Amino acid sequence: MERRQFLRNSAITGAAFAFSGAKGWAKSADAHIDILIDEPKGEISPNIYGQFTEHIGGVIYDGVWVGEKSKIPNRYGIRSELIDKMKQIHVPIIRWPGGCFADSYDWKDGIGPASKRPRRTNFWEGDHDAIRLHEKGPQIFEPNEFGTDEFMRFCRLTQAQPYLAANLRSLPALDLDHWVEYCNSPAGSTTLADVRASGGFPEPFNVRYWGIGNESWGCGGNFTPEEYASEFRRYTTWIPGYGLDLQLIGSGPNDNDIDWTHRFFEQIYSDHAYHNRSFTGWSVHHYASDLSRGRISKGDRKGDALQFDSVDWYELLRQCDLTEQIIQDQWTAMGQYDTDHHVKLVVDEYGPWYREGTELDPTHIFGQQITMRDALATALTLDIFNRHSEKVSIATCAQLINNLNALFLAHEDRFFATPNFHVFAMYAAHQGGEALRTVFSAPDVRYMRDGKSAQFWGLNGSASRKGQVVTLTIVNPDLSKATETQISLGGARIIRADGTVLAAADMHAHNTFDRPNAVTTANLAVAINGEQLSVTLPPASVTKLTVTLG
Ligand code: AHR
Repeated sequence: MERRQFLRNSAITGAAFAFSGAKGWAKSADAHIDILIDEPKGEISPNIYGQFTEHIGGVIYDGVWVGEKSKIPNRYGIRSELIDKMKQIHVPIIRWPGGCFADSYDWKDGIGPASKRPRRTNFWEGDHDAIRLHEKGPQIFEPNEFGTDEFMRFCRLTQAQPYLAANLRSLPALDLDHWVEYCNSPAGSTTLADVRASGGFPEPFNVRYWGIGNESWGCGGNFTPEEYASEFRRYTTWIPGYGLDLQLIGSGPNDNDIDWTHRFFEQIYSDHAYHNRSFTGWSVHHYASDLSRGRISKGDRKGDALQFDSVDWYELLRQCDLTEQIIQDQWTAMGQYDTDHHVKLVVDEYGPWYREGTELDPTHIFGQQITMRDALATALTLDIFNRHSEKVSIATCAQLINNLNALFLAHEDRFFATPNFHVFAMYAAHQGGEALRTVFSAPDVRYMRDGKSAQFWGLNGSASRKGQVVTLTIVNPDLSKATETQISLGGARIIRADGTVLAAADMHAHNTFDRPNAVTTANLAVAINGEQLSVTLPPASVTKLTVTLG
């Protein structure tokens, strides 16, 4: 086939042409990948493999929390199967309690004896999905059975760090101080530490990560950037530290809203400058929710999670791929004020967002099925985070279970892992690895999009190294073509190479209660040819190669 060089991995494009030409690649390969083993880019923060859990629909109630008296196997009320699976993929950090819910949540409602906790109206009660529910369950009237203690238990059981989103819209700043005091003050030191102890937790939770509001441009208060900057200064000017290295995360833009970022950073860094070294994170939310391709100007532009054609496939991947541009643009904007880039990006909500109709239970607000398309979307997003490891310090997938880009779907006693779980399982090997520059050279995928020729990249991915082991993850978005690929590791001696692949004959393939393993990983043959590897990447697949060097 005609080989059209298509070079990816931004900064080194010019060098890569010469590099590929010098390799003496076998002519038969469709694509080439150069792992630049001598160009480490810094550690991939394990925290970019985080998860998000909100009090919305079936995430906490029915998903995470089944209650201690439930017949469903549980530990302290938390679904055991979920804990086990989360440990398998080494979830490093969990964001809670929202989302939009966070800015209407009073943390004090969720502490103390469960029987005495108040019932409150959930933020999402007015959502279209909630209104149509006949039974007004915990999705509408929050029982507060799951509060701070239960969340901390969940984190301990899964060995994840807690990341709490504080209420900036409807609680005063003193409440944030007190929530931090409840979580972090030493045993016996404060009245709130005693309350914590009476719930069975004398020792502090030591929560380091605190979000200062959520989507403050929208559900979190409808602030202007200037107003939010002023609130942010006020809420973060003093927070009790207890010797912890607190990490404060500002509520950043919706998608690539550069104006929000410029105006916030201008307020924070100029004039009466704000010097708070704990401000280390700027959150970004990006959902792939507009699949209308410009054909719908008003109303719901979402697509369907299960009913889609090949153009929708590429369109969804394209929407998720915008994450890379968002990261680059936001980073550039932040750098104009925060010139040493003390503040990193925290992508704490991301994933495809489809219209209602494929949720497993009506109570699962924003619940949707997860197909191979979503697995590729998730994989290419994680690869983007890996490639920008110096910029992205935390990311949490929206959301862990029964909502949007879920890794798990559950209802009552039934539970299964979605294809996204398998992506996280494969990519866990990157956590804490040294990111390596990698050049992907592959022909674009070409297809017809509304009567016009369109293209999408042919292969992309990321690589990292831990000692003598290199992990390479690759997405092949092409729906019809397997891609024969040669891989070079810059002349390093290859002792062993193992492949794992997630692929399915049908792009709509997904798991269900009846067929929980319809989509799962398999081994993939990798040939070692001297200093190179050869592998055939199936159509519409996610692949991980584990390469041991001598
Ligand atoms: O993840 C669902 C919702 O999407 C979150 O509550 C909100 O932050 C975002 O708009």
